[in-house]
Amino acid sequence: MQAKAREVYVPPVLQDLRAGTAELHIALEKRLPFFSDTLDTQAFVRLVQAYYGFYLPLENALQQSDAIPTDFDLAPRLKTPTLRADLLALGVSAAALQSLPHCQQLPIIDSSAACLGVLYVLEGATLGGQILRREISSRLGLEANNGAAFLDIYGAATGRRWRDFIEYLGNQPMSADERAAVVTAAQTTFSCFERWLESREVLA
Ligand code: HEM
Repeated sequence: MQAKAREVYVPPVLQDLRAGTAELHIALEKRLPFFSDTLDTQAFVRLVQAYYGFYLPLENALQQSDAIPTDFDLAPRLKTPTLRADLLALGVSAAALQSLPHCQQLPIIDSSAACLGVLYVLEGATLGGQILRREISSRLGLEANNGAAFLDIYGAATGRRWRDFIEYLGNQPMSADERAAVVTAAQTTFSCFERWLESREVLA
């Protein structure tokens, strides 16, 4: 008898997140300049600076929110230190880093549900990083050791860490209202990020 393909269980909250953010993802992906013919190292540095200006205040807000579920280990998933190291490797001085602008319009993080929605976006972005990493390596010669570590932040563990996150998310007991709050936070994260990147003039 032929083995039946393993059916992958998709928890309802993930179904809702995918349905609620797919269009936002496509829209942002189209405008990001990773595959643009005009992307050079200088433009890449400006893009990483813009990422830093978003991730830094957002990860600070997550840490200060008191809303992170107590059994969720955020520290090993923080990405700002890697963005910072990339910028230093790309020749941005510590003084210049200090004076980079930070996004002020961030998603409101007032519940565990909102935390999880924000985290879904930040964790999911590591998946696309695997494609972007190859592009930036072949186009600009930048790798994990000279300015593009963020794009390969979890390295070979990317898939496993994503599945761990999804499993954690799917195991959280959640009311319909909480599920809706997760999706709203994820949508707001996408839209705040796009608006911020637009204001930094790094989008197509
Ligand atoms: C040009 C830039 C990008 C490309 C090419 C890209 C590509 C991808 C790809 C191929 C996947 C699916 C991986 C898979 O199913 O195994 C994915 C998933 C995802 N990406 Fe992106 N991405 C980009 C930018 C971003 C950004 C900037 C964010 C958010 C800040 C983001 C958030 C997500 C999320 C949340 C998922 C998970 C979707 C899910 O499976 O539930 N992506 N991306």
